[in-house]
Amino acid sequence: MTARTYPFTRNRPFEEPPEWSWLREHAPVSTVKLASGDPAWVVTRYEDVRAAMTEQSFSRTINRDGAARVSTGYQADKSSPVFNFGGSISEPPGHTRWRRIVAKAFTQRQADVMRPRIAAHTEDILDEITARGDRFDLMADFAYQLPIRVICDLLGIEIESRPEFTELAAKLTRRDMQSSFAEFGEALGGIGRYAAMLIARKRRALGDDLLSKLIALKDEDESQLSNEELVSTVILLLMAGYESTAVQLGNAFFALFLNPSQLTVLRERPELIGNAVEELMRWGQMGTGFAVAKSATADIELGGVMIPAGATVFISLGSGNRDTSVFGVDADVLDLTRPSATSQIAFSYGPHYCLGAALARAEMQEAISRILARFPDLRPDGELSDVVLASNLFTYYPRELPVTTAERAR
Ligand code: HEM
Repeated sequence: MTARTYPFTRNRPFEEPPEWSWLREHAPVSTVKLASGDPAWVVTRYEDVRAAMTEQSFSRTINRDGAARVSTGYQADKSSPVFNFGGSISEPPGHTRWRRIVAKAFTQRQADVMRPRIAAHTEDILDEITARGDRFDLMADFAYQLPIRVICDLLGIEIESRPEFTELAAKLTRRDMQSSFAEFGEALGGIGRYAAMLIARKRRALGDDLLSKLIALKDEDESQLSNEELVSTVILLLMAGYESTAVQLGNAFFALFLNPSQLTVLRERPELIGNAVEELMRWGQMGTGFAVAKSATADIELGGVMIPAGATVFISLGSGNRDTSVFGVDADVLDLTRPSATSQIAFSYGPHYCLGAALARAEMQEAISRILARFPDLRPDGELSDVVLASNLFTYYPRELPVTTAERAR
């Protein structure tokens, strides 16, 4: 059998590439070919994906000498910080210690405490939108606005500095705003300097924000996060928590528009929002399949197949999320009442499980509920078939999602 070229292409928005279901059934741990011509492996079944995410012989560093050439979208480079960002905090033992400390701050309680702020930001953004008229772009005017305001709260950034910080953050994380690899490097440097200054200022007067908490937290042996670790943490929060939440929000609305009967269900039963967000993340997942890429540091047996040391492996959370053995024979259908939706793995699994999951859930739940409550006539402004989906290596989402809130003739 000739190796398939990865990533696979979708025929319609959110429709899984046909290769996934075939592979899950016939060759769940299998070889593929990358655009560079180099071979790699994909893992497609839910159980194998979870097993792979907890396998300690997989490393996140996929740009070792001799490794498969993976294009980052900027260039087929092995030095790209896109893939090896984070240094000491991205791999064990540094990651294990870092995670033990930061997990004390990123709790469900912390997300609950932030919920009223998230609600207030949502309403403010909607006020700004309403003041401009009854048409807006759900991506630029809403989805990209909320997560960065929440991150500014986490970091305790003063109101007057927020526009400057937001611009820097957008240049760093938003692929749609970068035209070259050099620009990404510049933005990384800019955010790094800003973070160092912010941390120095906080050290002089700790506030009640999460960054202050991270500065003060101690590990079991009383050690604290170093300046370098704190700067990496700020950058990581932006890299992991800004665009991801924005595009997942956009996908959620696009998925609802593509499935009007489900939009009606949610309007009629707003109490479903918790389960609805899980199902929207499962079905309308923002990841493309490249985000969770690993390198095998030893021969690894997975699903009865031996993956050789040195192999580059893509662990497909998206394919796992469509596995019929977990989500039922209708896994391809969006069903906001699906009880198994809470088993979705769009936040990953294992030691790198999304640190901001509770916060992201609160953002999605508040944003979707409040938008639907505020705009009873919210609908696409134009044909859904005209919506252009951006699909870079990491994320899959509508570039623009024009909507109208104008009252419908009844
Ligand atoms: C809906 C929005 C989000 C999605 C879909 C998402 C998804 C993910 C995924 C799949 C990973 C794991 C990557 C891997 O295994 O290598 C991850 C890790 C992470 N996420 Fe999220 N994320 C979201 C929002 C956020 C937010 C709001 C924050 C914080 C402000 C955040 C912070 C992080 C951090 C720090 C990590 C790295 C954890 C580690 O390496 O131990 N994420 N996220």
